[in-house]
Amino acid sequence: MLSLKMGNVLTLWTFLGILLCINARVDKCGTLLLDGCFCGQQYHDDQIYFIVNCTGLGFRNTDVLKLLPEETEMLVFTGNHISTLPTNLFGEENNLKRLKIIDMSNNGIHDIKGKAFHHVPNVTRLLLNHNNISISSDDEHNFHHPRVFSNLYNLQELHLTNAFQDNTGAALADDLHDIFVNSNLTKLYKLHLEQNEIKGFKDERVFCDLPELHDIYLGDNNIPSLNFDIQCLPKLRYLDLENNNITSFSKKDLATFDRKVPPFRQASLIIDIAGNPFKCGDAVRELYQWLKTTNVTVRHPEKLQCLQTKHGNNYLLNLMTLAETKSAKVSKALKVLLVILVVILVTLICAYVYLKKESVKNRLNPLLEAVTRKVQYTTIESQEV
Ligand SMILES: *[C@@H]1O[C@H](CO)[C@@H](O)[C@H](O)[C@H]1NC(C)=O
Ligand SMILES: *[C@@H]1O[C@H](CO)[C@@H](O)[C@H](O)[C@H]1NC(C)=O
Ligand SMILES: *[C@@H]1O[C@H](CO)[C@@H](O)[C@H](O)[C@H]1NC(C)=O
Ligand SMILES: *[C@@H]1O[C@H](CO)[C@@H](O)[C@H](O)[C@H]1NC(C)=O
Ligand SMILES: *[C@@H]1O[C@H](CO)[C@@H](O)[C@H](O)[C@H]1NC(C)=O
Ligand SMILES: *[C@@H]1O[C@H](CO)[C@@H](O)[C@H](O)[C@H]1NC(C)=O
Repeated sequence: MLSLKMGNVLTLWTFLGILLCINARVDKCGTLLLDGCFCGQQYHDDQIYFIVNCTGLGFRNTDVLKLLPEETEMLVFTGNHISTLPTNLFGEENNLKRLKIIDMSNNGIHDIKGKAFHHVPNVTRLLLNHNNISISSDDEHNFHHPRVFSNLYNLQELHLTNAFQDNTGAALADDLHDIFVNSNLTKLYKLHLEQNEIKGFKDERVFCDLPELHDIYLGDNNIPSLNFDIQCLPKLRYLDLENNNITSFSKKDLATFDRKVPPFRQASLIIDIAGNPFKCGDAVRELYQWLKTTNVTVRHPEKLQCLQTKHGNNYLLNLMTLAETKSAKVSKALKVLLVILVVILVTLICAYVYLKKESVKNRLNPLLEAVTRKVQYTTIESQEV
């Protein structure tokens, strides 16, 4: 009996072992060149994807990407040392129709050739965070390829956080519109451009050719005001301007925000403007009044600060507290004024009564006598009972 059970267990183990071996071979991604990468089904964002994950394997070019298995749905190719993404990065014959997510963050990418992302028509999310992309024309090389994101017809999310070489803020801002126009990103929903030293855009209609754009992330840049058009974005839902260089919003800017919410538009708008060096003063008072009445949702209003300069020193004050203590001071002053008025009034009445005490007494006497008499009668009556 016991030996039979042992036999069963052994058979089971052998079977499992063979299964594991087969699996391991499938895991090898179908080609030795992808050796070291993980290939297989895996959960990501509550969904199962066929993932090829080549993280931190020291790849120095992208040749292996021409050999990706056809079933690849998500490519993670991060932490390698790639200076250039060539035209047709994934080859011309490869049939990567299922590829939905490409993450090529943190590779030191310097140059992306035009049409790099052709032949991957179903990609919805592209991440190129933390790279060293040069975008402006240079004396020796022309790095400016306005078609860098062309043919990504189905792209919904583009992540370009800290993606560009330092000091390209101005050049980047000049070229972005060009890129968006030429890349035809008609389905782009979410755009991340944080940490790119952007001060402003040469063309204020920079985002206007992205008709589906819902969320714009521009945090940790040097933007000094609402210096780009949002009126042209019918779907805008979230605007992140956290940690920029905004000192004030003009009345026109605030009105522009208001135009994105009821009663002007039947939708909501959330903005994040914390971490900006607002200047304490009239503009801040206006902003405070606006915050109290607007239909725009402002994230973390309690975190807003303004900068006050006194005797050459800068002080950072909480905007809400400042505005509220100011209005509290006003209401306190009003109370004091009221008390003073009441005191004056009472004094005046007393003075009047004192001056006219004879006539007041004469007028009051008959009344007093009547009351006294009534009290006496009542007392007698009650004693009789
Ligand atoms: C890819 O692999 C790296 C290291 O092997 C791991 O840290 C990372 O979580 C993986 N990414 C995904 C999306 O599975
Ligand atoms: C990928 O795109 C093609 C058109 O380019 C389409 O026919 C196909 O259904 C898409 N596949 C998936 C899995 O989305
Ligand atoms: C980015 O590229 C420049 C040259 O264009 C180079 O000097 C710099 O070291 C690179 N930075 C990183 C983090 O790779
Ligand atoms: C942009 O893409 C749409 C399909 O999404 C296509 O109909 C249109 O012709 C493209 N325009 C350009 C200029 O490539
Ligand atoms: C922020 O704005 C001030 C003027 O309001 C300017 O002097 C300063 O250079 C700006 N900072 C950056 C990093 O752009
Ligand atoms: C906020 O929306 C309501 C409902 O549409 C509207 O009546 C009100 O005037 C709006 N407030 C402002 C400040 O626009």
